[in-house]
Amino acid sequence: MLEVKELWKVYGPLTAVKGVSFSLKPGDIFGFIGSNGAGKTTTIRMISTLLEPTHGTATINGADIIRDPMGVRRQIGYMPDFFGLYDDVKVWEYLDFFATIYEVPPKQRNSVIDNVLELTDLTVKRDAFVQSLSRGMQQRLCLARCLVHDPALLLLDEPASGLDPRARAELKELIIELGRMGKIVIVSSHILPELADFCNCVGIIERGEMLAFGPVNQILRQIQPTRVLAITVLDGAGEVRTRLADMPHVLAAHLEDEHHLRVEFNGDHEQQSELLAALIQANVRVVQFHEEHANLEDVFMRLTTGAVQ
Ligand SMILES: Nc1ncnc2c1ncn2[C@@H]1O[C@H](COP(=O)(O)OP(=O)(O)OP(=O)(O)O)[C@@H](O)[C@H]1O
Ligand SMILES: [Mg+2]
Repeated sequence: MLEVKELWKVYGPLTAVKGVSFSLKPGDIFGFIGSNGAGKTTTIRMISTLLEPTHGTATINGADIIRDPMGVRRQIGYMPDFFGLYDDVKVWEYLDFFATIYEVPPKQRNSVIDNVLELTDLTVKRDAFVQSLSRGMQQRLCLARCLVHDPALLLLDEPASGLDPRARAELKELIIELGRMGKIVIVSSHILPELADFCNCVGIIERGEMLAFGPVNQILRQIQPTRVLAITVLDGAGEVRTRLADMPHVLAAHLEDEHHLRVEFNGDHEQQSELLAALIQANVRVVQFHEEHANLEDVFMRLTTGAVQ
């Protein structure tokens, strides 16, 4: 379990993080979303013990970041937003170095290195020099390095930045796999839609405050409590609109054009199917009937003011 309790970070007149709290359990993949300067890196660095909080604390499997930073470090892998790699070092030497630092027993080191290389799809680069790797491979190597000590919590600060679409897709698969292995993964990004489909939980931070936290669907429901049904009919949309307006759970029915209607609806799925059945019984020639999903980018824009400190 990761428990983050009321973390604050104050830099003179500027408060970068204002009482952030949340908890995550093994297997959780948490998308930490916020615009530039929102406080993502500051929060992540506090959890990874690299930055001392002004107030508050966090514990990972009982180890406290303030009282037991070494106990925390043994359990976490932190991938910073900017990282340097060493020149004239081969991929396996680089990983061996970190395995040594993390006190992986010498007898296990080779198999650990093989495992993390396989997981990050870098086996063919085992003997290549680090500086000869492409940016996406370097990113994966950095992630491989975070895995040598089999941490319970991974903190990945914008791991997808600078990656091409294929490399992003591969990174996503890798993160899903880490979740399946029972690790807690925190991934930060500016882009909500990029994370929404594989994170089981997202948090939206703005000016140091967590504005929303929870499963994506739940956040969507909070923002948009009524659902919107888009209905396409072959003809007579005007009459259908009048008819719809009197039906149960319909809050409003709007005519978009001669074929399209939008209905604000507060019923559940069963009531939604009853609405469709009633339309068909009334001989309305329905071509399409579906729920419109909120655009995640819209949600993010609505939640955040876009203000930068
Ligand atoms: N060492 C520091 N001294 C003073 N202010 C700082 C320091 N580090 C960060 N800040 C400020 O804290 C705020 C949050 O910064 P942070 O790096 O956590 O944002 P972020 O969400 O990671 O942004 P980005 O998406 O640009 O990486 C910003 O206003 C930043 O200028
Ligand atoms: Mg950052």
